[in-house]
Amino acid sequence: MTLDLLPLIMTIAKEGRIEEEMYLTTFLFEEAKHMEFFRYTLDQIGETGDLTVYHSDTYKSIFYEILPETMEKLLTDQSPEALAEAATVYNMFTEGVLAETGYFGFYQTLEANKMMPGLLKGVGLLKKDESRHIAYGTFLLQRIISEHPHIFKQVEKRMEELSPLAITLNTEGYDRLGNPFGNDQQAVLNFTLKQLSVRMEILARAKGKGIEEIYQSNEKEYGIL
Ligand SMILES: [Fe+2]
Repeated sequence: MTLDLLPLIMTIAKEGRIEEEMYLTTFLFEEAKHMEFFRYTLDQIGETGDLTVYHSDTYKSIFYEILPETMEKLLTDQSPEALAEAATVYNMFTEGVLAETGYFGFYQTLEANKMMPGLLKGVGLLKKDESRHIAYGTFLLQRIISEHPHIFKQVEKRMEELSPLAITLNTEGYDRLGNPFGNDQQAVLNFTLKQLSVRMEILARAKGKGIEEIYQSNEKEYGIL
């Protein structure tokens, strides 16, 4: 996520949207901090191995191909369609569905088993940052859709295409590692499915809204924690 964000910031900067660019610099800083936090955690428990062995096929197709290719496309194509595609894949899907499900899984595992309170606290703080990232993506898509209404359909279609990947990603982890902490797998899957529908519901709510109305929306409406 840290590596892939820059083309979005460059696109927004090129459009001269200084306020959004200013926010996005904190966004990138937070992505880097999240990476550092997980590295710190691994260092504290003495984990030095190569964790890419845990990357499943679906994980690889999302994080090695779909996400970087979508974001890099912005370097040559800054059309509203390409920008919406980037926000859909990065903010709505990867953050809004996958990362949120990951955090839900952390709570299920660590809270239920009363393990690693420091890690859990850190994840709680990460989740707060994440809520702002997803809120920005939602705002961006709403802004684009209010100016180019046909893009709503494009976003809807893309989310439908990505949905099966979120579902397989859930099961692949258990297939590989089993379920050592006794997670409620159905609850995690239900959470993923709920996130998939929630993202589209929030975007749909803004359909037909004028740009001024979108700018007036408050933090709560965007789900900022
Ligand atoms: Fe994020």
